[in-house]
Amino acid sequence: MLTGVSAVSEKSSVDMDWDSLTFSFTKTDRMYVARCNEGEEWEKGLMQDFENLSLSPASGVINYGQGLFEGMKAQYAEDGKVVLFRPAENARRSREGARRLGMPPIPEEMFLDAIKQTVKENIRWVPPIGKGALYIRPLLFGSGAILGVAPAPEFTFLVYVSPVGPYFKGGIKPTSLRVSDEFHRAAPGGSGGVKAIGNYAPGMVPSKMAKKDGFSEIIYLDAVNHKYVEEVGAANFFCVKNEIISTPELTGTILAGVTRSSVIELAKSRGYEVREEKIDISYAMDADECFCVGTAAVVSAIGTIEHGEKVVEFCGGRVGPITMEMYELLTSIQQRKIADEFGWTVEV
Ligand code: PLP
Ligand code: COI
Repeated sequence: MLTGVSAVSEKSSVDMDWDSLTFSFTKTDRMYVARCNEGEEWEKGLMQDFENLSLSPASGVINYGQGLFEGMKAQYAEDGKVVLFRPAENARRSREGARRLGMPPIPEEMFLDAIKQTVKENIRWVPPIGKGALYIRPLLFGSGAILGVAPAPEFTFLVYVSPVGPYFKGGIKPTSLRVSDEFHRAAPGGSGGVKAIGNYAPGMVPSKMAKKDGFSEIIYLDAVNHKYVEEVGAANFFCVKNEIISTPELTGTILAGVTRSSVIELAKSRGYEVREEKIDISYAMDADECFCVGTAAVVSAIGTIEHGEKVVEFCGGRVGPITMEMYELLTSIQQRKIADEFGWTVEV
């Protein structure tokens, strides 16, 4: 199956309208693939042309959703280098997820090497600075055939990339979100804390319903008390009240976002009090500013939140000052516009 190992095309530029990038899939040149048989070590991965996979209809991933993914970005920095943001954190999270889902963890060095190789061999797809990023999608899944509900006999680790623009339509414009009283994303003891592929399909219909009504996404509440904020679709939630920044604590039901932990560190480094705590939805609706963060979402201001009959607008529908400060700080570090005081950027 590891065919098409021809050299990367000599073409150095791509026919893309970089000003119109959205968060959508564009087929690129090359992908990385490695395999591992149950109980054995990972074989050396290889780069190959981007192409469809051949999978057994009985593979663990198709039948029982045994799989996880990661999301990262490579982008041009001010110094002309293509850089990643804290890739070791994604490597670590993927290992934790692999253990939870009964799959062989990918050693950190192998993970980082796969990411770098895939970016390098698709370098012409990295958007110019400020126009977007090359989104990196590592996947780990049970590719072997299995009928009983048990870990697959073979696993595949694959990395592909796609140039992307803003995750939310409208880019920096504050989003309108709806709190769901009907749907939950995860329950205690489940897989909400890892990036399991199975966490995402159940959110599609709720998200589609919200979008049909003009919202950008759903805010999920906890599945036990139905009142504490968990996450925003595929991003972590923050709110600010009296200059105190709060974000839901990690209880195992929400994803420990790399952007979340970066924003916490950045805010603390700038002297803000940051609380990781239970956030009652009524506290959030009464906040001065709300925003959500993630690799795809970056730092996105929340303009309005609807919960039941109540609708609240933050900062007159504009991006709040602390939201803007966090956005500027994070993106300036990611693009090396300011000194990377934490050592978070890594050259490919
Ligand atoms: N929460 C969920 C459910 C996600 O899918 C993501 C995206 O990765 C995040 C939060 C944000 O995590 P990160 O900042 O690591 O991208
Ligand atoms: C990311 O931010 O990397 C994500 O995984 C979001 C994605 C589900 C679109």
